[in-house]
Amino acid sequence: MIAATEMRPSHHSGQDPPSLQASDFARLFGGTERQVVEWCAPYLTAHDWRYRVLTGEDRDACLLQAVHRLDRKAAPAAGTDRQPDWEAGWRQNLNDFLASGGDLDALVPKYIRPGEYIRLFGQYVQPANRDFVKFYTQIFRAWLTQRFFEDAAAVYEFGCGPCSHVAYLAQTLAGVPVYGFDWAEASGDILRAIADRYGWPVAGGRFDFFAPDPGVVLDDGAVVLTFGALEQVGGDHGAFLDFLLANRPRRCVHVEGLEELYDDRDLLDALARRYHRGRNYLSGFLTRLRALEGEGRIVIESVHRHHFGTRFDDTFSYVVWRPA
Ligand SMILES: C[S@@+](CC[C@H](N)C(=O)[O-])C[C@H]1O[C@@H](n2cnc3c(N)ncnc32)[C@H](O)[C@@H]1O
Repeated sequence: MIAATEMRPSHHSGQDPPSLQASDFARLFGGTERQVVEWCAPYLTAHDWRYRVLTGEDRDACLLQAVHRLDRKAAPAAGTDRQPDWEAGWRQNLNDFLASGGDLDALVPKYIRPGEYIRLFGQYVQPANRDFVKFYTQIFRAWLTQRFFEDAAAVYEFGCGPCSHVAYLAQTLAGVPVYGFDWAEASGDILRAIADRYGWPVAGGRFDFFAPDPGVVLDDGAVVLTFGALEQVGGDHGAFLDFLLANRPRRCVHVEGLEELYDDRDLLDALARRYHRGRNYLSGFLTRLRALEGEGRIVIESVHRHHFGTRFDDTFSYVVWRPA
C-alpha cells in the first residue's frame, strides 16, 4: 500500500490553498521535475493550478455520491450497445468544430465537464479553475508525447473519439503521420475535417477492438496509443492484443484505468475499483501483459499508477510495452 504521506504534494503543508508545482506534476505523471519544466513550461504558467482539499461534510458528500453511483442504473455499463452513444457524441463535436471554423477546443469531449470535483493524490479536491481537468489533460498529454512518442515514425490512436489527441500529436510531431481509428464513423469525418483545415498528415477510419480489421497494417516504427478507450472493452481485449502483437509496433502506450493498481485497503480506491467493475471497464489487461512478459513475448517498459482522476476513478494510469 502506498502511504498517504507519499502521495501528498511536496509543498502541501506550506501553501494554502495548495497549487500544483512542477515537482507535483512529475510525481503525478511518473517522470522528473526537469522533464515537466522542459516539456510542459507553457502549461505550467498559463493556468491556475490551485485546489482545495475536501474535508468534513464536503468529503462525505463526495463519498456518498460515489456510493450511490455504484448502483448500475446510475451510469451505463460499457459494451457494444453503447456504440450509437459514442457516434452521436462525436458527431456533436464534429458539428461544433465545423461551426467554429476549426477551433481545436471544440474537439474536447463533452464528458469533461467544467467545475467538477476530482481525485488528486488520493483525496477529493475542488480545483480553483473550472477547466482544471481539460488543462490537466493537456499538460499530461504534452509530457506523454515527449516521453513516449518522440521517436515514432508513425502514431496510431485506437479509440480516438473526437480526435483531440490526434490533432495535438500531428501538430507537435511535425511531419509524422498520425492515424486515428474508432468504431464511430464520426471520428473519420473529424479526421478529414482536421486534414482539410490544417493540412496535417492525419488519416484513419473505422476499427472495432472486438474484431480488428486485418486490413489495418501498422507502419514500421509505429507507436500506438489508447487513451481511455480500451476502458470500454471490459475483459474482451484478446483480439486487439493479438492484432498488436502481429503488427509489432515499436511501442504501445495505454492510458487507462488499470484495476490491478487499485488498493482495496484505501477507501477511495476500494470505491473506484467497484465503480470500474460496475461499469464493465477494462479488466485483466495488465495481468495479461504481465503474463505475456513472463512468456518472453513482450517487454513492459513502464507501469504507473496516476493519482489523478474523476470523482469516481483514476483514469490516467498507464502501461507501456513493446514486443520482445
Ligand atoms: C472515453 S472515449 C475516449 C476517446 C479519446 N481516446 C479521448 O481520450 O478523447 C472512448 C472511445 O472508445 C471508442 N470505443 C469504444 N468501444 C470501441 C470498440 N469496440 N472499438 C473501437 N472503438 C471503441 C468510443 O467510440 C470512444 O471514442
